Amino acid sequence: MAFFSQKQTGQAEVSGLPRHVAVIMDGNGRWAQRRGLPRTAGHKAGAETFRTIATYCKDLGMDYLTVYAFSTENWKRPQGEVDAIMSLLDQYLHESIETMARDNIRLRFLGDVSVLSPRLRALIEETDEITRHIEGFQANICLNYGGRDEIVRAARRFARECVDGKKTPEELSEADFPGYLWSAGLPDPELLIRPGGELRVSNFLLWQCAYSEIYVTDTLWPDFGKAELDEALAWYRTRDRRFGGLSAKK
Ligand code: IPE
Ligand code: IPE
Ligand code: MG
Repeated sequence: MAFFSQKQTGQAEVSGLPRHVAVIMDGNGRWAQRRGLPRTAGHKAGAETFRTIATYCKDLGMDYLTVYAFSTENWKRPQGEVDAIMSLLDQYLHESIETMARDNIRLRFLGDVSVLSPRLRALIEETDEITRHIEGFQANICLNYGGRDEIVRAARRFARECVDGKKTPEELSEADFPGYLWSAGLPDPELLIRPGGELRVSNFLLWQCAYSEIYVTDTLWPDFGKAELDEALAWYRTRDRRFGGLSAKK
């Protein structure tokens, strides 16, 4: 049985449910290799898992789900694997344009998509356009995303405004800086989930995860289902979030 009962969107904080969950979708390759399948089969299965988990997050009443789909470092992989991931993405977005609008899920993309193929860029734009009006739940897909790259670009954008005379360096505050990031407008994720067992952040949401609770599980992403998400959310509810202060529980 689901740990949280299904309810209206926008109620996340009330029930101890995070408003925003971030996921490093890791373990696709190992999942496939353990089955004697090509790594690509793992990426395909991982895309299905994303569909299931996004819908479940929406049904639970969360506001945002942000997933790491392709990092700025993933270009180091063999060309064949990169091509296969891009082609799966193409296929996935084609299917999603209809299903996301039908399921009331807004899709937004974070990262430098300008280097992707014109076809993929057009699909991303179309998906963005079609789902833009959807309110309630938003899934963010990080594509060619790197936390350091994001911060450097933000710094450049701010520097440009200073050079143009619109801003002075002293004006920049911790509250304003996120407005220059890819994630502008999103609240920080309260919970970061990493399937696949690795105890590292791999350049994901470096600014935004400053105080996120980190849940790591050995379960590989394609095997990560609703029950695993329930478990992560139940664990999250037990956390004492102090933000450098003292426990509010005592
Ligand atoms: C994550 O799964 C997907 C991408 C990085 C594109 P991996 O492909 O990293 O899977 P493992 O970690 O090798 O099992
Ligand atoms: C992180 O997984 C990137 C994505 C899931 C998209 P990686 O497999 O690339 O991370 P490392 O290499 O294990 O740190
Ligand atoms: Mg990996």
